[in-house]
Amino acid sequence: MINPIVAGNWKMNKTPSEGKIFSEKMVEKLGSKSSVDVIVCPPFTGLSSLVISTKFHLGAQNCHFEDSGAFTGEISTSMLLNCNVEYVILGHSERRSIFHEKNNDIGKKVSKVLSDGMKPILCVGETIDELNKGLAKQTVRRQLKLGLNDVNSLNNIIIAYEPVWAIGTGLTASVEKVSEIHSFIRTTLKDLSSESESNNVPIIYGGSVNSGNADELINAHAVNGFLIGGASLDVDKFVEIINIVDKI
Ligand code: 13P
Repeated sequence: MINPIVAGNWKMNKTPSEGKIFSEKMVEKLGSKSSVDVIVCPPFTGLSSLVISTKFHLGAQNCHFEDSGAFTGEISTSMLLNCNVEYVILGHSERRSIFHEKNNDIGKKVSKVLSDGMKPILCVGETIDELNKGLAKQTVRRQLKLGLNDVNSLNNIIIAYEPVWAIGTGLTASVEKVSEIHSFIRTTLKDLSSESESNNVPIIYGGSVNSGNADELINAHAVNGFLIGGASLDVDKFVEIINIVDKI
């Protein structure tokens, strides 16, 4: 049994004070007995400003694989742990395309986050070009293989399938496409590890999820939750999606 997950990736949005107000409102609106693991991933500056509550977990949007040192602009896992971070988004397509992150470095980050006791949310997904060339599965397989290259076990790993062409575009992958790729991810994880381990890995979908499409997407085969960008910035919309996922 995999607990459903709804994670909000705020990207470069919200000041610490805006984040604090959001978290207070969210905690007020969320029911006390949700089956959903809610994760909020503010920018680094917001990590210490959200209210502390058992109703949600804290996630970061990136980290470095080294412990400390001369890495201007980077953040370490111990710094995140000190802010009570439990999850770290890694290999997001914006990190890959805008900041030129490579699969090998993403793999090192996944292993570092795990060995320091946090849970990586490894993002994979094809670009529109790769989709049109029929290379979606090949791309996802490569990203999984290299992203998980340095780990011995799939325990505590979350995979987010985020087709790049669906991020922030209002285009959502069809339920059939999402089911197909999520099942492919599960099979690939089995090849890379074992059936029992792969069956326990949450595979969540991201790409223009909103309160209008959440219901059909969460009911798609092999979808264990969402990684949400735009709609996670509005507390009412975010809570609405959490409630939809909670009902399944
Ligand atoms: P949108 O929900 O805005 O499409 O963003 C998805 C995403 O990139 C989450 O990481």
